[in-house]
Amino acid sequence: MGSQGQPEEGFNKCILVTGGAGFIGSHTVLQLLEDGYEVYIIDNLDNSVEEAVNRVRDLVDQRFRQNLHFFLGDLCKKEDIEKVFSLAKFDAVIHFAGLKAVGESVANPFRYYKNNLVGTLNLYEIMAKHGCKKMVFSSSATVYGQPKVIPCVEDFQLSAMNPYGRTKLFLEEIARDVYQADPDWRIILLRYFNPVGAHPSGQIGEDPKGIPNNLMPFIQQVAVGRQPELNVYGNDYPTKDGTAVRDYIHVVDLADGHISALQKLFKASDIGCTAYNLGTGCGTSVLEMVAAFEKASGKNIPVKFCPRRPGDATAVYASTEKAEHELGWKAKYGIEEMCRDQWNWARQNPWGYISP
Ligand code: UD1
Repeated sequence: MGSQGQPEEGFNKCILVTGGAGFIGSHTVLQLLEDGYEVYIIDNLDNSVEEAVNRVRDLVDQRFRQNLHFFLGDLCKKEDIEKVFSLAKFDAVIHFAGLKAVGESVANPFRYYKNNLVGTLNLYEIMAKHGCKKMVFSSSATVYGQPKVIPCVEDFQLSAMNPYGRTKLFLEEIARDVYQADPDWRIILLRYFNPVGAHPSGQIGEDPKGIPNNLMPFIQQVAVGRQPELNVYGNDYPTKDGTAVRDYIHVVDLADGHISALQKLFKASDIGCTAYNLGTGCGTSVLEMVAAFEKASGKNIPVKFCPRRPGDATAVYASTEKAEHELGWKAKYGIEEMCRDQWNWARQNPWGYISP
């Protein structure tokens, strides 16, 4: 069972999860199932594999196994969304599906605007048509841009630094407009800080295609010998050790945050369109993360100091008060557990879901 819900929570409720085969999606689907929800996944497997869904099915208590349904489809094709809506009546949608590589978005903005914006607009349209007006949306701390002060509070002014960030910013604005135009909608925007770790079983985890852009998947690949060393982007930041500081959050905590948000959507008639940070409120530097991973894995992670990565902020971490007070959710795990579980996944699956 998910650590915050009870099986009866989801009884008789059916949720559509877009991008449910992905890293955060697969962990959330597992918790939904364990809380008794019926779950349909729509995923185009652009940066994920169906094996993740099979592993979720194997992990979940067999009582709930038949509640999981996978549909290969693309949100950019309205007919795919229509098809999945013809299979069941959904009580809410958790919308993870989207592209998230910053560098790729700079090189190919069209792909990002088309996939993230058009896909989401299609989804809203078909949800409305079927009278399903409850949505939990994957936003990102990227909407805080380069925060002038930290911790980041939800009512800060928002900005974007690249096309990927702009898709999240636009989609937040679109969500607010959708609600303004039709107050029947209830929309929760979840701003993730830096999701890491893996399910404690080591059976599901992050498996990016190609060379990882993000810190932890890269460290993991160094630990298993797939990469020779970690490039540390910048050691001249005004921080405790000169490297940039982020708010890393265990993916299981993040998945719990979605269950809490969903419960809020069902219970609170006055939720409107509201944003919540999902972070721990703690800042950790790149070198601290490397040291924690070395300790958890017993592996040496060689580092090479390189110039700062363009667009990187010095320090970003969340104010967690709003989610604590209004969603009753708080992260439980620290970086020790994040590194332990990430290593457990890496050691059992050094090549990710599918070995070459
Ligand atoms: C990045 C994106 C953010 C996106 C998030 C999830 C940027 C500027 N931000 O967040 O918009 O929502 O990923 O995909 O890209 N680092 C290294 N070496 C590496 C990789 C990272 O030193 O090989 C450093 C970075 O400079 C940064 C920290 O590790 O200081 C975390 O990086 P990363 O995991 O990419 O996350 P963010 O940059 O915070």
